[in-house]
Amino acid sequence: MSAKNKDGENSTGEVIWVSGPVVKARGMRHFRMLELVFAGKDRLVGELIELDGDVGTIQIYEDTSGMRPGEPVKGTGNPLSVELGPGLIGRTFDGIQRPLERLREQTGDFIRRGTQVPRLDREQRWDFEPRLEENTDVAGGEILGVVQETPMVEHRILVPPGTRGRLTSIAAAGSYTVEDAIATVTHEKGETTLHMYHNWEVRRPRPVRERLRTAAPLVTGQRVIDVFFPLVKGGVAAIPGGFGTGKTVIQHNLAKWCDAHIIIYIGCGERGNEMTDVLNEFPELRDPRSGNSLMDRTILIANTSNMPVAAREASIYTGVTLAEYFRDMGYHVAVMADSTSRWAEALREISGRLEEMPAEEGFPAYLASQLAEFYERGGHVRSLCNNEGSVSIIGSVSPPGGDFSEPVTQHTKRFVRAFWALDKELASARFFPAINPQTSYSEYVDAVLPWWQDETGEAVGRYLEQARAILRAYQKLQQIVRLIGEDALPDEQKMTLLSARLIREGFLQQSAFDPVDMFAFPLKQARMLRAILRFCDMGRVLVKKGVPVYRVRELSSFGSLMRMKASIENEKTEEILKLQGQVEEEMHRLAREAQISEEELGTEIRSQETGGKEEGGEAEKGLEERADQMMEEHTKADLYQEAKQHDIKGRSSMTKEELAESLAREREEDREKS
Ligand SMILES: Nc1ncnc2c1ncn2[C@@H]1O[C@H](COP(=O)(O)OP(=O)(O)OP(=O)(O)O)[C@@H](O)[C@H]1O
Ligand SMILES: [Mg+2]
Repeated sequence: MSAKNKDGENSTGEVIWVSGPVVKARGMRHFRMLELVFAGKDRLVGELIELDGDVGTIQIYEDTSGMRPGEPVKGTGNPLSVELGPGLIGRTFDGIQRPLERLREQTGDFIRRGTQVPRLDREQRWDFEPRLEENTDVAGGEILGVVQETPMVEHRILVPPGTRGRLTSIAAAGSYTVEDAIATVTHEKGETTLHMYHNWEVRRPRPVRERLRTAAPLVTGQRVIDVFFPLVKGGVAAIPGGFGTGKTVIQHNLAKWCDAHIIIYIGCGERGNEMTDVLNEFPELRDPRSGNSLMDRTILIANTSNMPVAAREASIYTGVTLAEYFRDMGYHVAVMADSTSRWAEALREISGRLEEMPAEEGFPAYLASQLAEFYERGGHVRSLCNNEGSVSIIGSVSPPGGDFSEPVTQHTKRFVRAFWALDKELASARFFPAINPQTSYSEYVDAVLPWWQDETGEAVGRYLEQARAILRAYQKLQQIVRLIGEDALPDEQKMTLLSARLIREGFLQQSAFDPVDMFAFPLKQARMLRAILRFCDMGRVLVKKGVPVYRVRELSSFGSLMRMKASIENEKTEEILKLQGQVEEEMHRLAREAQISEEELGTEIRSQETGGKEEGGEAEKGLEERADQMMEEHTKADLYQEAKQHDIKGRSSMTKEELAESLAREREEDREKS
């Protein structure tokens, strides 16, 4: 990358117009599009986003108040880039990768505008260990050597993509700063000196050898996600949800517990105290798998609501570029962006100031392509150094009024493959995570089922089918319950409701604040679901054979199943097996009391289970059909009930259709009269 622009000098322009984050300047013809510039006497960082002859439009990543026409604009010759090398992990950066700790040291709590600090620490020394020998041929992306950056992260120093030649020197093991020369590559054009860091343009995706298909889930420890709506390593997901529905809590939970090697958390236009929470909390929290501090694998990018809007975009691109860099070393990286709607709003604001033709709801027409570009940088790849790595992206979306038909949600939906729709009603009932099982989806479900089988030895695919069918039946029964109340339902339906309650409250609902429940290992999740379904299966058979549902509900194992998420720790899943044993014992006792033979019970349950394997659960299908039938019967019964009340002659002999018609006519007449 050249350090100068077209005329070989750092050019200078002159500000002619200032409107919030947008500045126009003349004398710009020698600048490049997307060149990074320093604008005004305070040298505010900005990016040239439009060039029309001699006049350039610049978006400024800092507060422009006080800037006046006549002030200078200096070019840098380079596009907005990040520095990639040791010293990233555990840090907090602003949208243009300035380390916030350093900014604060220099300028106090309120960051002074135009402050220049090096992005990577220039003084810190790192213990470098070479991995290549002199006189070998090297190419971009290869691992030159390593630095143990934190207890959790071995930082692999990469040959910058695009560099190729013979390695004519490489530093011996020892301690170096990022600016010390550690290697020389000789090629036709001469020599290139390599350091422990290199620059990369944030808008340019880093090259990879090939894209791979993914099958391993990104384990999040959140049951509703891992089992019902999983994400894979390299997958892309969105969390749309209205105000206060739990987007940030889910993003924080994922950042804490997901099994990625590296976490990049972008706080984009949201409240600053949420970032402070992360800063305070993460160093104290331990990674459940390695026991290390969570900050040892995390990079924070803070562009909070009180920071300039244009930098929201930069923070998104900076974040995803850092993610690709660690992916290229062979790591699984997860990027959380909270919230992409604030970024979209910044695009809208800037576009408005540029007086561009707006598309839906004032957003610029390029909103969709920008979102696509962002999510496309997710993926599972073979990197240039032949390692496997991935970037998973989870973006939250904050639709105004929780209305998912707005442009940001709709466009995002086109580019993500998992959609965790948060529900206002669930959230206001304090049912968290408020992921609505009806409106959410994941296209990765089938891809991860073999992993579940290998990892836990449990038939999670079958459990999932069964649980989904119970939830669907529950949803249908809910309509009837709303009309006539639960008490009026026959016992079999009450048993379905009881089963759904176990799945919903005992499994899907998960507290982010309970020390045991906050994350669940896959084995715990699988065994919990199995034990719950065992209860549902046996209970259903017994109730069908005449055991009153209240007897099933009274069993002490019911309460234990409801509580196990918080009472049984991840490492003690054998207790879940024991609990399942207790379920079976208690159910058998009920069966004996009702004179149902062990054999009868066993046969019924087995037939349900085998039915469950292929067909998505014969028994569960039965449940759904029964719920449909109930609806039907209920409407019929209603009609007759009404007929009786009105006691109009002849109606009892009418067909259902005639009756409905006659009643409708009567209602119409009533309405006209009143
Ligand atoms: N998994 C959870 N467990 C317990 N409580 C939760 C959970 N998720 C959310 N909450 C509760 O809901 C509140 C709001 O959550 P959160 O701040 O994540 O919402 P949000 O969608 O990010 O809101 P905003 O629209 O303001 O950004 C939290 O403060 C917490 O009390
Ligand atoms: Mg939030």
